[in-house]
Amino acid sequence: MIRAAILGATGYTAYELIKLLLRHPHVEIRCLTSRQEDSPHVSTVHPSLTGLLDLRLTQPDVQQVVDLSDIVFSCLPHAASAESVAEILAASDRIKMVDFSADYRLTDLAVYEHWYGVTHPDPQRVGVTPYGLGEWFADSIQEARLVANPGCYPTSAILAIGPLLKAGIASPQDIVIDSKSGVSGAGRSPKLTTLFPECNESFSAYGVGQHRHTPEIEQVLSTLAGENVDLIFTPHLVPMDRGILTTAYVRPKGSVTQEAVMAELRKAYEGSPFVQVVDHLPATKHVSGTNFCHLTARIVNQRIVLISCIDNLIKGASGAAVQNMNLMFGWDMTLGLL
Ligand SMILES: NC(=O)c1ccc[n+]([C@@H]2O[C@H](COP(=O)([O-])OP(=O)(O)OC[C@H]3O[C@@H](n4cnc5c(N)ncnc54)[C@H](OP(=O)(O)O)[C@@H]3O)[C@@H](O)[C@H]2O)c1
Repeated sequence: MIRAAILGATGYTAYELIKLLLRHPHVEIRCLTSRQEDSPHVSTVHPSLTGLLDLRLTQPDVQQVVDLSDIVFSCLPHAASAESVAEILAASDRIKMVDFSADYRLTDLAVYEHWYGVTHPDPQRVGVTPYGLGEWFADSIQEARLVANPGCYPTSAILAIGPLLKAGIASPQDIVIDSKSGVSGAGRSPKLTTLFPECNESFSAYGVGQHRHTPEIEQVLSTLAGENVDLIFTPHLVPMDRGILTTAYVRPKGSVTQEAVMAELRKAYEGSPFVQVVDHLPATKHVSGTNFCHLTARIVNQRIVLISCIDNLIKGASGAAVQNMNLMFGWDMTLGLL
């Protein structure tokens, strides 16, 4: 057994991570941190864990986290996360870490500081930390002490478009990505836009041309394409708890059939248990609560239309983190996830 610590244990992704780790055969949760005072029992913060985990949340203390863990998951917001990652990795050369925030995803420090509006607290690890999308970057994840867990929207877009760019079937120009997310994508901290009366029975776009996941999607798709991609990414808030559905429109290079596109997707994910290329049109309910991505393609009017669905809290966050941990420890990547 290895011991796990979770920073930011009161949040949504941490809650999902706790549930996944409780059924993992090789992991024992030993430390949960929060800034909340009086060390609340985990069951008071996440009542559905009553009877499942007998642990109190503690104030974040680097030495305690290091003493109690072999792997640390940081479920903190950006900047706060990199501060903690830097302290923990400096305090121990034994600990492995998975960072849920965007702090180590972008390889260019200036791009990060521009889009996130902060000075990076740990610049030395920017550009050298593997991007934790196991379907595409398993080799570098296996070797890593720190992995940058991907963003939820980027996961849904990259899994759909990546194979066609890598195979040279799709043009890297003029890509349109239209994504819709459930409200848990915004985290548990209260915000005006995610209050029930604001978002219930309503469906809206936000961050048009300005969403922070744009440079992440551009970066990873450019890596897979071998050249710079040009794209528009528009996210939407849907009044449901969880799930992301992404529809992407890409131009084929030359003429291509739907059968050829589907065959390319199936070939790309042959050895990837969590990406299912399906003939039907996928829906968020089909993958809710799972680490699966369901993906399909159609040809419409000379364009390839790709549709992918994930659960933002699992394949878009905590499930991907467990998949990364499994790779980092040399285990079957499906452990605790099926
Ligand atoms: N939600 C998603 O679908 C999703 C998907 C992919 C990635 N992510 C990323 O995963 C991370 C966690 O997301 P989440 O949705 O779980 O967020 P969340 O529900 O808001 O939880 C974040 C936790 O971090 C702690 N925290 C907040 N501000 C802090 C600060 N300044 N310093 C230290 N701790 C702080 C809070 O715990 P206390 O107040 O108890 O200390 C909070 O419970 C974020 O980086 C997010 O971008 C989220």
